[in-house]
Amino acid sequence: MPSLSSLIDQAALSCAKARKAIALTGAGISVESGIPPFRGKGGLWAKIDPMKYAHIEALERNPADVWRVLFMGIADLLKTAEPNAGHMGLQRLERLGVLQTVITQNVDGLHQKAGSRDVIEFHGTHTTLRCMSCGQRASWQTVRLDVLPPPCACGGFLRPDVVMFGEPINVALLQRAQMLAATCEVMLVVGTSATVEPAAYLPVIAKHNGAFIIEINPEPTPLTDDISSVALLGPAGAMMDRIVQAVAGYKEGRL
Ligand code: OAD
Repeated sequence: MPSLSSLIDQAALSCAKARKAIALTGAGISVESGIPPFRGKGGLWAKIDPMKYAHIEALERNPADVWRVLFMGIADLLKTAEPNAGHMGLQRLERLGVLQTVITQNVDGLHQKAGSRDVIEFHGTHTTLRCMSCGQRASWQTVRLDVLPPPCACGGFLRPDVVMFGEPINVALLQRAQMLAATCEVMLVVGTSATVEPAAYLPVIAKHNGAFIIEINPEPTPLTDDISSVALLGPAGAMMDRIVQAVAGYKEGRL
């Protein structure tokens, strides 16, 4: 069994040599920012039933309940959340000329806050609101939250601009993500349980097109045995720090 240091070295060397690397991230990368994941220890879906609160039909049937239980809960968590070493590591890989794009399943905006410039928000964003009826967008700051769901001027109501269960992924974003997956040389897969499609299939597309897959997650996932080229079993912050340090060394010719 290779040591963690040698796995990190393999990961860093593949990044340093790649002309095109991308990342796919999930809730685990934001855990060290104080945002709990959906599944596993402390996961949100163990506390609330996603079919009752995170499905589009639930929002259509009981918008006030979904707002109260899910949307306001997430909004509270995001108010104070700051990027951590995992997000910063991906931003630094971009600055080193290694990483082109981050595809994230997260709706927290923390990659952009960390300074990553090309972020595909696969499941939308919780940081803006959108009317269910007319599609008009609104900011949280301009909306009164004393009545839930907050009304739109058109007579409809507002919701966070996220993708709920039962809703499709934006076609243009899906196509761009699939194209990037099919053409990248390296994909970093950070903090995702890789259980929700179609995001979970992106590493499979990359692998089948010859990419080197670096998985970072304290727990094994369905990708670990057959798809990941290197699996770093640890938290995103510490693993990204070590990878970035080694990539910088290769780039500067120190290693
Ligand atoms: P999950 O909650 O399914 O998985 C989070 C993953 O992060 C798990 O595999 C954990 O082991 C891992 N993890 C925990 N702490 C970590 C750390 N410090 N560093 C790195 N990894 C860590 O989250 P996602 O895979 O993002 O969709 O879930 C995918 C989608 O399912 C979400 O976007 C959301 C959810 O239902 C929608 O709401 C549509």
